[in-house]
Amino acid sequence: MEIQQWAGLSHALQTIVAASLVFAACVYLPRLNFKAQLAKLPPLDYEGGKASRMAFIQSAKKMYIAGYKQFKDRVYRMVDIDGSEVVIVAPKFLPELRRLPDSVLSFPKAVNDTLEVKYTRVQTEEPLSAHAVKADLTPALVRLNPLLTEEVHQAIDEDIGSCKDWTPVPIYMKLVSIVAKVSGRVFVGSELCRNQEYLDAGINYTIELIGAQRAIKQINPWLRPFYAPRLPQVQRLRQRERAARDFLAPVVAARRAAEKNPDYQKPEDLLQMFMNRGDDFNVKTPAQFGRVLLGIIFAAIHTTTLVTTNILYNLAVQPEYVQPLREEIRAALAETGGVITSRTLQKMERLDSYMKEVMRFYPPGSASFNRKVLKGFTLSNGQYIPAGVKIEVPSFAIYQDSEFYPDSETFDGFRFAKLRQPGDAASHARNQFVTSNEQNVAFGYGRHACPGRFFAANEIKMILCRLILEYDFKNMDGSMTRYPNQEIGRASNPDPTKLLLFKKAQV
Ligand code: HEM
Ligand SMILES: *[C@@H]1O[C@H](CO)[C@@H](O)[C@H](O)[C@H]1NC(C)=O
Ligand SMILES: *[C@@H]1O[C@H](CO)[C@@H](O)[C@H](O)[C@H]1NC(C)=O
Repeated sequence: MEIQQWAGLSHALQTIVAASLVFAACVYLPRLNFKAQLAKLPPLDYEGGKASRMAFIQSAKKMYIAGYKQFKDRVYRMVDIDGSEVVIVAPKFLPELRRLPDSVLSFPKAVNDTLEVKYTRVQTEEPLSAHAVKADLTPALVRLNPLLTEEVHQAIDEDIGSCKDWTPVPIYMKLVSIVAKVSGRVFVGSELCRNQEYLDAGINYTIELIGAQRAIKQINPWLRPFYAPRLPQVQRLRQRERAARDFLAPVVAARRAAEKNPDYQKPEDLLQMFMNRGDDFNVKTPAQFGRVLLGIIFAAIHTTTLVTTNILYNLAVQPEYVQPLREEIRAALAETGGVITSRTLQKMERLDSYMKEVMRFYPPGSASFNRKVLKGFTLSNGQYIPAGVKIEVPSFAIYQDSEFYPDSETFDGFRFAKLRQPGDAASHARNQFVTSNEQNVAFGYGRHACPGRFFAANEIKMILCRLILEYDFKNMDGSMTRYPNQEIGRASNPDPTKLLLFKKAQV
């Protein structure tokens, strides 16, 4: 090789080395800086040292409780389920966090990362969903409640049935089906709420989504763009999206055609609410409606089912609550001849309280309010929260704080009913199942707090009314020990495989 060629090659190499150094500086220096900033936040001291990822998977609840005691006035960091670090925020900082815009604290970005939205494409970004639920669905509940009662009636007859003798019931699977049908009435209307494709999506999409998310997380992040879309679990989600588009398309077309008739009364359901507001949000095609619907299904169906199952697992071993609950439900229904109106539901303060107390002991996650920090900011105590970190609020520990919940370790089903003072609206507002504030964080907090909780509360109450009034139920082996929840990391789920024995009550 000629000397000049050598010189040329060596020059090229130098350029490459220099360029890769610049590249490395761009990629790694902010990371180093981020790590340095994160390192300034105090770490959790767990049993005398730094907690491991394994400890988090096995006993996250204990870690959140330990952190809650150690850090009343400061935020701290601890290991997350994937080995990264997450920052935990004490409830006293919530009011100042509430004021921060989405460009600083992002809910969709946190969900994007957790659910691998790039590949799963679950709709977390579309503001139409939350807006339609908040602005249209919740106010419509007053009119929808009688319809929903009917739907609950029918679904329970179909899925639980007559139970003349003690009958084993896989209650989680039955409730998921009941919730999918009843929610369907409000989501997709009478045309589709018993459509098999809709029901399959309602029941299975969430499970498939979680399966896909887990499979994606197994792949090295650099290889994900290539391998993730090819995963069978991810392709399954594409099938669900196509199926949703296909079952919605004829209904959307029929409704649009009917709108030309001046006497046409638009149905009152979420699909119609999406259609009415679609132009403002640029969501117009059946494919787009389908994806928004799947997003709602993900937010709504298994969450509601988990909460209802938790309540029944408690009630199965707390028979002393059944009689007072039945009395309250009967008295409320007597006033309306058996129709469940919004007013009837409001009167069921013991039931509402019991639901809330179960959720206090079994919040769906031991942490909530997951947010990704997009721009660093300083808390009122001077601690700096760097961009790039994920923050969360320790819900379970908050619910166990005796300052907020006197005698917090005691289960008192009617605790919240007793706190409601007749004629004092504020004491009612503070002590409802749907209450969302610094002490009540199961539905999240602030701007993105669950907009579906009013609907969920009504639906759960209607289902419980029927089950409590019309059936006796108990654990399969007759034991009086509550079926333990499955605790993995921050998740706490009732065991979906357990059976309860059901028998029609003697009335
Ligand atoms: C008992 C059942 C439910 C539980 C425990 C629950 C819980 C939650 C939680 C923790 C959040 C995140 C809030 C935050 O981080 O601040 C959320 C958000 C959301 N939920 Fe629910 N949810 C339930 C039922 C429902 C239902 C029935 C619907 C629909 C009708 C729904 C629709 C939504 C939507 C659209 C969001 C996103 C809000 C936004 O982006 O601003 N949820 N939910
Ligand atoms: C979330 O992910 C989607 C799809 O990858 C992307 O379009 C969107 O910009 C992301 N949102 C945020 C807040 O990062
Ligand atoms: C839905 O999931 C259940 C349980 O995982 C499964 O048995 C069933 O075949 C699934 N149905 C459809 C249509 O995917």
